[in-house]
Amino acid sequence: MSVSQLFDAAPAAEAEAPLSLTIRRPDDWHVHLRDGAMLKAVLPFTAAQFARGIIMPNLVPPVTTIAAAAAYRERILAARPEGCDFTPLMTCYLTDTTVPDEIERGYREGVWAAAKLYPAGATTNAHHGVTNIPKLAPVLERMEKIGMPVLVHGEATDPAVDIFDREAVFMEQEMLPLLKRHPGLKVVIEHVTTAETVAIVRAHAGRAAGTITPHHLIINRTTLFQGGLRPHLYCLPVAKRESHRLALCEAVTSGDTCFFIGTDTAPHLRGAKQAECCSAGVFGGATALQTYVQVFDEAGALDRFEAFASENGARFYGLPLNEGTITLERKPSRALAAVEVEDSEVVIFRGAENLPWSIGEVRP
Ligand code: DOR
Ligand code: ZN
Repeated sequence: MSVSQLFDAAPAAEAEAPLSLTIRRPDDWHVHLRDGAMLKAVLPFTAAQFARGIIMPNLVPPVTTIAAAAAYRERILAARPEGCDFTPLMTCYLTDTTVPDEIERGYREGVWAAAKLYPAGATTNAHHGVTNIPKLAPVLERMEKIGMPVLVHGEATDPAVDIFDREAVFMEQEMLPLLKRHPGLKVVIEHVTTAETVAIVRAHAGRAAGTITPHHLIINRTTLFQGGLRPHLYCLPVAKRESHRLALCEAVTSGDTCFFIGTDTAPHLRGAKQAECCSAGVFGGATALQTYVQVFDEAGALDRFEAFASENGARFYGLPLNEGTITLERKPSRALAAVEVEDSEVVIFRGAENLPWSIGEVRP
């Protein structure tokens, strides 16, 4: 599909030498598409950039059954713009009462691609999540046996733990023991935000992987307060200090195959963000590839971009690589400031900003 409807004309800027980079079509291994009018409004942005997406199950109520996932998949397929071939890959929301047989049946039937582990209360719509991870052992053992990946939101939920330490505390108290208890389990540590987690992913490469969002490559915790509080940059895990951002940039551009795209694009209406209690989530789906490729360009690592964007994730999940291509151009572009949803809107991460890269042709 054409992305021209989604983007303003490019503004003039002192551009670097133009460059065109054609890569195999990428996938987004962590997407929140929501439902209803929001789904219809945000899906075209993800589908314009990615061939497939791992769809997060934290709807209200959460997607915990095969029937609910199959129905949600149909709603996503029906919400695609005409001619769009985007493939949603569904996930099961794990709870304290998840039954191993339901997990196995859904995986064998091709409904689930993976299961998502939210520690109870860790983030948006996570209150049905898992209260005691060691007690999830029968489910995780079954997943280990059938080769089904578990996708982990890695943050401690004890409110006494400093918010900037929640990922590190979770890794020590829950993730490392889990990796040890289930040595054959495929684990994706989602939206990695710290240097320590980067090291943990690397130490378990092969059976563990990490997704890294575009926003965590661009902002740090100081950006959240730049000139005043920036609600549209608030997400969970919250952005950390600059040294961690640099570690994330190093990880994605290193060529290590244990890192891949997961935008965590998480739309919330303007009213929910600019509120007394701001919802967590950055809507990064519209500027994701432009941001990732800029990071690789600035690191002098464009030759490593295709593997990060289009190969490492599919290989980890055991899925075929996409056949088509997308062309990215080092040519200024500007996304819309926001996308309308019914009588409100969702603010776009880096929307209305001059971006050095733009999206060119997509060949299916
Ligand atoms: O910031 C976030 N928003 N982090 C999550 O883990 C969930 C997401 C959402 O669903 O809004
Ligand atoms: Zn998420």
